[in-house]
Formats: sequence, structure tokens, C-alpha cells
Amino acid sequence: MKGLKFSLVALAMVIPSAFAQSQPPLKVGMMLPYSGTFAALGNAIDNGFQLYVKEQGGKIGGREITYVRVDDESEPSKATDNINKLIKRDNVDVVIGTVHSGVAMAMAKVAKETGTTLIIPNAGADIITGPMCAKNIFRSSFSNSQPGFAMGEVAAKKGYKNAMTITWKYAAGEESVKGFKEGFEKGGGKVTKELTLPFPGVEFQALLTEVAAAKPDVVYSFFAGGGAVKFVKDYAAAGLNKSIPLVGPGFLTDGTLEAQGESAQGMLTALHYGDNLNIKRDNEFRLAYAKQYRLQPDVYAVQGYDAAQMLAVGLKATKGDISKKDDFAKAIRATKFDSPRGSFTMSNANNPIQDFYLRQVVGKENKVIGIASKSLADPARGCTIQ
Ligand code: BEZ
Repeated sequence: MKGLKFSLVALAMVIPSAFAQSQPPLKVGMMLPYSGTFAALGNAIDNGFQLYVKEQGGKIGGREITYVRVDDESEPSKATDNINKLIKRDNVDVVIGTVHSGVAMAMAKVAKETGTTLIIPNAGADIITGPMCAKNIFRSSFSNSQPGFAMGEVAAKKGYKNAMTITWKYAAGEESVKGFKEGFEKGGGKVTKELTLPFPGVEFQALLTEVAAAKPDVVYSFFAGGGAVKFVKDYAAAGLNKSIPLVGPGFLTDGTLEAQGESAQGMLTALHYGDNLNIKRDNEFRLAYAKQYRLQPDVYAVQGYDAAQMLAVGLKATKGDISKKDDFAKAIRATKFDSPRGSFTMSNANNPIQDFYLRQVVGKENKVIGIASKSLADPARGCTIQ
């Protein structure tokens, strides 16, 4: 009798874990730039995502996580093939990607058509949480106009009257400038000239010569990764930083300060992350990230980490069954995310509603010196999901 009781107890202990183990690993397709001007951004996202998974013991929603990776090269013309291979050949359960807005738009189209869950850990293309929005597409980052708008408001409040803009000619640059213009002109400023060059070009000299001749009160620029390093250095080398302040979305100085050095000192930018937030969640995250990777985290690492948190929230609600799309989405929408950036909720368009900080470069840090825009939501124009 005693023996029987013991085996029943033992059986009861074995059954739940055997059940959990019966679920196969969840295949995560990471489609990110691991080469080119955005390579550092892709790697930071991947690191952040993996860190969160490791903190959960390698499993989320009861399922072990395995990865399939593809280098998207920030190349829109290869994007449809790349995501189709992940979905149809590799049979991934969910796709995480990407950095470049043009690539992300192609991915969103395929995700929408196939019903595949897509979590975007950076690319801010406004259209994805606008007319292309869908129940199965989420963003852990921002929409392009958000940091631009926040910086535009700040620039107007600082009393600048006219501005020139310089960016790459593609969705992210153009939408970032549009956001800046909206915030700046609402505050009484005027954007007098919008200069562009093709992505991922770094031949800035002719554009800087135009700025020097026009002498605007301020220059607003969107660049990121390797391009941002070169632009900020060239701007300073031309001596322009002495007389015409250069401002931007935080991508201009995030993850880049080691390489930009003296040329970035004093610059003001707006972003949903900074290096001295000094909140418990961020302090723990920064410590864990530095320990794991021997690197300081940046905004991209945070967005990768939060993409994994989103997946975890959805999988927890569906007991690991990602095919339960309604319950998965409902859970993400209902959650207040405890992020290293501070807490945020999701809009009806599946984009974070979050604070945008005003930051100033001091040494190797983007120091938060105020709030540029509080609880800023994506305008989500044209999105019809509820
Ligand atoms: C974008 O293409 O959406 C993007 C790329 C780098 C930083 C921010 C946005």
C-alpha cells in the first residue's frame, strides 16, 4: 500500500513535466542585419533577445527556444525571399525582425498574408502600425515619426526659428524628418530645406557645404549605426558643430559614442531610452547585459529584450500555443511592460505608448536631462484593427 502511494505521488510529479516536454521547441526566426551599416544594431537586438530567454532558463511559455538566423543585409530587394524561406522552408513559429524600414515593410506584407506572428524589434516604418497594421504584427520599438516629433517640439521650445534636415532617402529618414517638421512647425519653427542622400551612402561633404552656406539655426538629422558615426564625425570635422547645433532622434548617438568620441559631445537627441535612467529594472538589465556580453547595452538591445518579453507574455497566455492568435494579441495589449526603458503599454495598433527622453551626450553616455514627450502614442493613421 505504502509502495503504491509512493508510485502515485511519483507519477503525479512526472506527468506535468512530461506534458510540458511533449511540446516541441519553439522555432524563432531572427531576420536581422548581421552585416553592413546596421550590423551593430542587429547584433545588439539579438543579444537583448537572447538575454531575456536565458533569464527564463532558455524556455518561454513552457517551450524551449531554438533559433534560425538570416542576415537581411538591410536589403529590401531580398526581404520577401528571406522571410519566405524562414516561414516556408525552415518552418519557424515566429519571426523577429528587423532594423531597416524598407525590409520590415516587405516582411509585414508576408506576415499579414501568411498569418505568421511578427515582432519588430526596431524598424519604425509608420505604415506598419498605420494602414498595414495587423493583429499578428507587433512592435517593441517606436514608429519613425515619434522621436522626430519629440525633438521638433524641443527645438521649437529652445527658440530655434529655422532648421535644415539631412537624412538617407528612405522611409525611416523621411518619416523621422516629417515627425520633426510637425513638432517644430507646431511650435512656430520653419524647416527651410530638406537634404537627402541614398541609403546607405556616407558621402556627406556636398550636403555639409550647403549647410555651411545657408547657416540655419539648427540641423536635424536621422542616421544610425555606421552612417551615424561617420556623419557626426564629418559634421564636427567641418567645424559646423561650433556654430550650428546638430540634433536628431537618439539613433544618431546611440551605440555609437565610443566611435564618435569628441565629435558628439553636447549633442541633444530624443529617444525612448538613455544611459542613466537609474531605475531598478534598467540597472539590473545593464549589469546582466554587460556581464554576458562585455558590452554596454543600447536602445537596440532593449528593444530586442522587450521583443522577447512580448513573446513571453503572448506564449504564457496561450500556454505555449502560438496559433491562438486572438489570445496571444489580447494578452500583449493588456500588459504593462516592465522594460529597462521604463514601463510602457501597447496601442491599438500594437506599437508602444512611451515616454521620449531628452538626452545630452556627456562623455560616453546619452544622459537623460528631461522628458521630451510624455506617453507619446503612434498616430497610427489608417490602422483599422481594434
Ligand atoms: C529604420 O529603418 O526604421 C531605422 C533604422 C535604424 C534606426 C532607426 C530606424
